Amino acid sequence: MRIYLDHNATTPLREEVLAAMTRALRDAFGNPSSVHADGARARREIERARERVAGLVGVRSGEIVFTSGATEANNLALQGIARAGRAHGRHLVASAIEHPSIEEPLEALRAEGWRVTRVPAGADGRVDPDAVDAALAPDTTLVSVQWANHETGAIQPIEPVAALARARGIALHVDATQAIGRISTRLDALPIDALSASAHKFNGPKGVGFLVLRGDLAIEPWLRGGAQERGRRAGTQNVPGIVGLGVAAELAARELAERAERYSALRDRLWDGIESKIAGVRRNAGPPHVLPNTLNVEFEDAPGDVLLEALDGEGVSVSFGAACASGALRPSATLLAMGRTLAQARCALRMSVGLGVDEAQIDRVLALLPELVERVRRAAGA
Ligand SMILES: Cc1ncc(COP(=O)(O)O)c(C=O)c1O
Repeated sequence: MRIYLDHNATTPLREEVLAAMTRALRDAFGNPSSVHADGARARREIERARERVAGLVGVRSGEIVFTSGATEANNLALQGIARAGRAHGRHLVASAIEHPSIEEPLEALRAEGWRVTRVPAGADGRVDPDAVDAALAPDTTLVSVQWANHETGAIQPIEPVAALARARGIALHVDATQAIGRISTRLDALPIDALSASAHKFNGPKGVGFLVLRGDLAIEPWLRGGAQERGRRAGTQNVPGIVGLGVAAELAARELAERAERYSALRDRLWDGIESKIAGVRRNAGPPHVLPNTLNVEFEDAPGDVLLEALDGEGVSVSFGAACASGALRPSATLLAMGRTLAQARCALRMSVGLGVDEAQIDRVLALLPELVERVRRAAGA
């Protein structure tokens, strides 16, 4: 049996999600835009899922726009909100540790003549709200800050950032893809205007996610050609995927505290073991401002891509940096933005726990790691 410690990349499906999706694939095959009863059946399934997702994030169901995932939600949010607000100004602010699905739309907007200000992260992996404040200008149209980082798990100071954006009347978008289902991400009391997430990060299916658009926030659609999702996202909806997302959202809402407790205990067991058994290790981003399931560790002088391969050979899945177009691995952009050197970032691994991970698996990894790290260090000439 393999040991899967890469839940920030994706997560396994919950049985309840699979059962609901199978049922929807079979029974709710109608086109949700059709006026007949078969269409109405599919529409009902979508609206039920919309209620469940709205319940998880504390918004009205009409504020949820279903998408093909967080990449699409982020593209829609950045380009759609920016373009709809261009009369106000053409300046955008974002943290320097965003996911590529934020980075690249920002670059596309920059190429169209928008000014983009990036706010750096500190050595702890968090942005400073004062630095966000300082970056705001009279023509700022949109601020985008992730809720939690995909590489380190660092939880960002969303509350103060939301307060200051609201005080200036500037729209705030939050990429909550890694935070949803792991920490509370309710918007009832938080002035966040838009929020992105993806089902497959919280035991739902791949290829489906959502964008929350609060109130009457203006947005230019990205996909055109239909009135679905109230004209904010054209295209026949992925009914079984949305049904699966709805069930995953309901389970996440119900089990949030229990999951956080269970996963943080496993993650702490892993870190305590690593720290006590292996010399020359350092944690990148630690409690209290870190996701309960995420551990990012630098193993000094042990190249992370080689260590990943060694662990993979022993049946353990972890993550290192990001894949390049060539398929090779490059070190984490987040760690570099936090001021780690290239050599340090090259020696970091991300281990993220979730559904199906237990103490025996963590102990097995702890039994393997010291010798593997030693071997990789020796091979690297350390
Ligand atoms: C922070 C963050 N944003 C966006 C995405 C993209 O999500 P999706 O896989 O749904 O396109 C990811 C996925 O890794 C992520 O971690």
